[in-house]
Amino acid sequence: MSARILATDLDRTLLPNGTVAPEPGALNRFREWATGRGRSQLVYVTGRHRSLGRDAVDEYELPEPDWWICNVGTEIYSRGSTDPFPPWVDALSGGFQPDRIRAWAQAYLDGAKLQEREKQSSLKVSFYVDPSWATPEAEGRLQKALADEGLEARVIASQDETEGVGLVDFLAPGAGKARALAFLREHGQIPPERTVFAGDSGNDADALLSGVCGILVGNATWEVREGLRRALADHPEAHIYFASRPYTAGILEGLAHYGWLDADR
Ligand code: GLC
Ligand code: MG
Repeated sequence: MSARILATDLDRTLLPNGTVAPEPGALNRFREWATGRGRSQLVYVTGRHRSLGRDAVDEYELPEPDWWICNVGTEIYSRGSTDPFPPWVDALSGGFQPDRIRAWAQAYLDGAKLQEREKQSSLKVSFYVDPSWATPEAEGRLQKALADEGLEARVIASQDETEGVGLVDFLAPGAGKARALAFLREHGQIPPERTVFAGDSGNDADALLSGVCGILVGNATWEVREGLRRALADHPEAHIYFASRPYTAGILEGLAHYGWLDADR
């Protein structure tokens, strides 16, 4: 059996840390799946930076992944390495001007507050914003305004519904969860139909719509669910399974839907 990838977001997807109650036992079943995963590679795809990602593994006793995609797809780490994966560093180098973007965004985004220092990097500038800025439509407007200014970046808008705050990330062009995952797929020569990606929020949208086997977990907000349903019309290649169960239970529900829970590993 050839290799495949199970990629999952952490917060409020694999981790039951949202406002909806988790299903008891789901994380344990996932740990069992991961232990017997054979040639399936496990990839954590998170907005967190590497050390906050590690904190999640310790706190929730998660299985060690084969790869990490951190900081919303601006960094990739192989298992056990604390240095970003050099080919992805090379792929993203050049074109991103964090200082100019920071200054422009502070003026343009009413009331935006720069996120904590450790959440910023040379490839990512992130703000807390009013939730009205964190919709797919506002994301499109921001992307256009940025281009009109002659600045290059990818804009990713999402909501942290547990804190009631909007999040806007400006990423190096070519970055993002979808592209980092595609890079790992190509590295491992794994086709989209042998790749599952599970997520719950706005920064997962590009990967969910990228043509891999997508799973939106059941705790995703109505806005995220409806935004993705609308976006599906423009992405004929996308497959998204809308799970009804929350967090890890939703991932397992999606894996069953795609036929990944049988003996076939
Ligand atoms: C994570 C990151 C944060 C980002 C958010 C949404 O929480 O730490 O910087 O804004 O993901 O992508
Ligand atoms: Mg999430």
